[in-house]
Amino acid sequence: MTTAVYPGSFDPITLGHYDIIKRGSQLFDHLIVAVVANPSKSPMFTVEERVELIKKSIAHLSNAREIEVCGFEGLLVDFMHEHKCKTILKGLRFVSDFEYEFQMALTNRRLDRKVETLFIPTDYKYSYLSSSIVKEVGSLNGDIAEMVPLEVLNDIKERINATKK
Ligand code: PNS
Repeated sequence: MTTAVYPGSFDPITLGHYDIIKRGSQLFDHLIVAVVANPSKSPMFTVEERVELIKKSIAHLSNAREIEVCGFEGLLVDFMHEHKCKTILKGLRFVSDFEYEFQMALTNRRLDRKVETLFIPTDYKYSYLSSSIVKEVGSLNGDIAEMVPLEVLNDIKERINATKK
């Protein structure tokens, strides 16, 4: 059985993340979406909330049962060991993403030579999109309907509005 881990902050999930989950889950028998619990930036959503938003966004997929969503703390390679997985899946938007992603891929390989990172290009429709863009546009009363999965649009809008007050 082939398994890959798709790690990230997902604060919150965007349609770009959703697209990578959907496509990645078609490439592997089992995909684990790993939500980091301790990003350096203070998150808008707790790790439990981010996990729930992802689960809600993908619940309708026909292969949803092959997609696991969970939080993790500490090093990604330790999480990979615990889950007996050697493949990290990441989406790439622009050349500007590449330097940071390359650095992370090399670091993870330095920590464990058996861990490989595979990149898939983000769909061009979402290449501009990030969780930060969603939070910025939403907090300035812009329309985020085409940026996040419909299933979680209201949850995300409510939190953005609540943090404005
Ligand atoms: O969505 P992001 O913020 O680009 O995801 C970054 C993430 C979570 C993949 C990265 O920060 C990570 O792997 N954090 C866990 C700590 C770790 O293993 N660091 C060493 C590799 S850079």
